[in-house]
Formats: sequence, C-alpha cells, structure tokens
Amino acid sequence: MPVLGIETSCDETGLALVEQGRVRAERLASQADMHSLFGGVVPELASREHMRVIEPLYEALMADAGLRASDLSGIAVARGPGLLGSLLVGLGFAKGLALALDLPLVGVNHLHAHLLAAGIERPISFPGLGLLVSGGHTHLYRMESPTRFRLLGRTLDDAAGEAFDKAAKAANLPYPGGKYVDELSRDAKPVPGLFPKPYVDNDNLDFSFSGLKTAFAQLIEKRPHLRLPRLAAGVAEEGGLGVPSAIRDELGAVLASLSHSIAETLRIKTERALDRMPDASCLVMAGGVAANGMLRKTMADMAERRGIDFLVPGRELCTDNASMIAYAGERLFAAGLRHDLMLDAIARGRPVPDDYRRVPENP
Ligand code: KG4
Ligand code: ZN
Repeated sequence: MPVLGIETSCDETGLALVEQGRVRAERLASQADMHSLFGGVVPELASREHMRVIEPLYEALMADAGLRASDLSGIAVARGPGLLGSLLVGLGFAKGLALALDLPLVGVNHLHAHLLAAGIERPISFPGLGLLVSGGHTHLYRMESPTRFRLLGRTLDDAAGEAFDKAAKAANLPYPGGKYVDELSRDAKPVPGLFPKPYVDNDNLDFSFSGLKTAFAQLIEKRPHLRLPRLAAGVAEEGGLGVPSAIRDELGAVLASLSHSIAETLRIKTERALDRMPDASCLVMAGGVAANGMLRKTMADMAERRGIDFLVPGRELCTDNASMIAYAGERLFAAGLRHDLMLDAIARGRPVPDDYRRVPENP
C-alpha cells in the first residue's frame, strides 16, 4: 500500500503516492507565476495558495491513482527547512489525515529527500557523498544510509540557487531565474576569467556565493544594454523570453560564464570531499540547481574521470516535488521511524532534528 507524500515547504504544493520505491501518482501546483510578479516568493501569499489548493489536489491525486484514503499505508510530510507558514499548511493536512485514518505519520527533512530522490530511478549504494544544490541550500553530506546523513560542508552566505536567481534578477530575467540562465547559456561559450571561482583557495568544504551576485551586478552596470525589459514568468513561458537578437550572443556568453563559475566551484569542493571520503561508493547530486545542464555535465565528466558512480535525478525530480517526500518517508517507515502528532515545522536556517520515534520491529 502506498505512502502519501506532502510537500509545501516553499512555493510548490506537491502530493504524491509512492509504493515500494516506485511513484504511483503525483500532482504538483506551482505558484511561480504569481511570485514572479514580485520578484521572489511572498511567504504570506504562498501559505494562502497552499491552503487553497491542497485539498482539491489531494482529491485529484487519489482519483488519478484510483485509490481511497483507506488504501494508504502512511503519511510523510516535509517538515522543513522551509517557510514556516507554508510548512504548517502541509503539516496540518498531514496530521488531520493521520488522525482521521489512524495512519502512521513521519516528518521528512526536505534536504535529505532531495538527495534520496535519486534512488527512485536507480538504487543508491551507501555510503555516498551527497551534493545538495537548491534555492536556499548548498550542502555536502556524507550519506551513511537512507536515514542517516552527516553534514560535511555548507554555504556561508548565499546558496548556488540564490546566485543564479539574483544574477537573473539583475538582468531582469523572470523569477526564479535559474532555468532561464540555463536556457540562455545553452549554446554559448563561457568567457574565461569573466567571473571568479569564489572561496576555493582554502582547505574546507564550505561555499560562499554572495560575491558572485555583486560581480554580476557590476558587470550589468557596465553593460546596461544586457538588461532585459521586465518580464513575468507566465509571459515568458508563452512567448519565449523575447531576448533581442542583437544581445543574445553576448548575454548568452555572460550567463554561460556565470554557470561555468558556479559549476566549477561546486566541482572543486565536491572533488575535495571525495578525496576525504575514500569509502564513498557513489556521488549523488540533487536539488533545483542540479537541473542545470552545465553543472550536470561538469559533475558527470568529473565522476567518469575519477571512476565513481554518479547519480542525478531527472530534471522534474531535481526541483521541489512530493515524490521525493513520499519516497524518503517510505524509507523512514521501513526503518521503523515515525513521528507523533507533536511533529513541528522547522523554519529555514534552523537545523532539522532527528527526533523520530522508533517503532519496535515486533511490537
Ligand atoms: O530545490 P528547489 O526546487 O527549491 C528549493 O528547495 O530551494 O530549487 C530551486 C532553485 C532556484 O534557485 C532555481 O532558480 C534553481 O533551483 N534552478 C536552476 C535550474 N532550475 C531550477 N538553477 C540553474 N539551472 C536550472 N536549470
Ligand atoms: Zn527544495
């Protein structure tokens, strides 16, 4: 019987059913078009939108799968890190279902779930090195098992996704800008040395991407013709980005240089982590930024050169989704881990505790 996964940590409302590691059904409602009007996620609007869509989305999901509530085996919900108000919508819905249906409940660490998502497509062999690159986080983990992760390095300021999004904003690309940077730099060649590889001349596994947005903003100040007229994401989806052909090549080269600088910085630190983890049996990369074409190629080439197995989920599984929550939840249930109705949401910036209740195998 499937586990229901619920994802509401930011601006995507996601629900999915996973059974024995396989996705049976999934629904996702993105709010990106609404938030793009404001140039970023507006937390209060995000919570209200989750409230509005979560129930009909659940009905639609169950209809897709041809299942009834009584067919579920457990409820897994993203409990953080994320926007508190948004998380609480998912948590309230999950607790209501768990209580009404007398089903087990487990809170899932959204960041761990991103990395575990790679296992939906191909089994992960442990221990593995995990690189999580999302809108709010850039983390390197030692992945001991599906339920045990140790943080090895993290960003000291902006995440890789923020570097993409803030640079995109400086060029007036729609929010969130990562995928547009990717799209526009696809056929372009990076200009060597245009942007630095930040914070690599040290001995640690941490990251610092905040300088890149300043470097990018300064470049746009010097070349203001590269700034587009403001566009909403919805308009962009329908009519393309409308980049004038006169600047397409130059803008493409600048954006490709930014992608190159981020991809190389991530590669350098990831290789350093692999050097320090000789027992790693694979490298896993996940999170929204892992959808980036140049980054995927850079990491795949590096892994091939080093002879280490490389797992990166397909693009839809990289960005926020509920399949990863249901999948991670099913692993937690299988390990006898769950939460009670006191489960709380963890806001961005706070560590997610491993405060599971352990269920005896033979009660
Ligand atoms: O994991 P995610 O969907 O949400 C968070 O948990 O943060 O990641 C969102 C981030 C955003 O910064 C977005 O711009 C970035 O992932 N992103 C990309 C691409 N697709 C999404 N960045 C670079 N290239 C892409 N193709
Ligand atoms: Zn995420």
